[in-house]
Amino acid sequence: PLVSMKDMLNKAKAESYAVGQFNLNNLEFTQAILQAAEEEKSPVILGVSEGAARYMGGFKTIVAMVNALMEEYKVTVPVAIHLDHGSSFEKCVEAIHAGFTSVMIDGSHHPLEENIAITKQVVAVAHALGVSVEAELGRIGGQEDDLIVDDADAAYAIPSECKELVEATGVDCFAPALGSVHGPYKGEPNLGFDRMKEIDELVGIPLVLHGGTGIPTADIQKAISFGHAKINVNTESQISSAKAVRETLAAKPEEYDPRKYLGPARDAIKETVKGKMREFGSSNKA
Ligand code: G3H
Ligand code: ZN
Repeated sequence: PLVSMKDMLNKAKAESYAVGQFNLNNLEFTQAILQAAEEEKSPVILGVSEGAARYMGGFKTIVAMVNALMEEYKVTVPVAIHLDHGSSFEKCVEAIHAGFTSVMIDGSHHPLEENIAITKQVVAVAHALGVSVEAELGRIGGQEDDLIVDDADAAYAIPSECKELVEATGVDCFAPALGSVHGPYKGEPNLGFDRMKEIDELVGIPLVLHGGTGIPTADIQKAISFGHAKINVNTESQISSAKAVRETLAAKPEEYDPRKYLGPARDAIKETVKGKMREFGSSNKA
């Protein structure tokens, strides 16, 4: 069933595993992620960025597609449709009206007081409708769609500010930037575990790790032990699907039927997602 993230993340934090947010890019991504979740018996969060929503035909199109596929596949595991990096109060409300069960309001580029004010507004509307809310502090580096943060601007979240934001807003989960990056890492990721531990103790609610692509398993496990109950993955599925398309078309340069090259791409996404669910410990937790 379609649900908010609240219960799935509280359960994950209590039982020390993380639920994956896997981003949608098209129909094949949606099919692959839902099938992976059902086969792994894992809760799952479908992440939708504003850019991906524009590409796929808007929030309503996505909700209709997800609902239809869940019925077609007889999905029994908990599924959340979540707005990823919502850029404004208005965009969050638009997603909620379209049927999203969860939203992220990313006010991380605003000064703290402004971030708190916008996040509070979103929480008021969302919670009245049973929709969960994620907020962010600090700045996650790299690029995801419209969101580009240069190395110089990437910043670690400040623990006292995290406590202030979480207490003032009543968000359901919280993403402190701690050195993770959107897209491929240049070299090894350098996550701020000392700060992570401090923030976990101060805020108490489930933490969210953005930029889940390319983080070593040992670091994933450490992040889960320091309160992370949600890990976002997009680039890794994109890379595996692009590789499958390249290999298929290299082996058969005359191929033109999209089903012949997007089918293998879909299989590759499904395998990537299943691997992440096992790594995050969410398999058999639905
Ligand atoms: O919000 C989405 C994620 O943080 C995706 O990060 O593309 O590096 O896996 P990634
Ligand atoms: Zn992100």
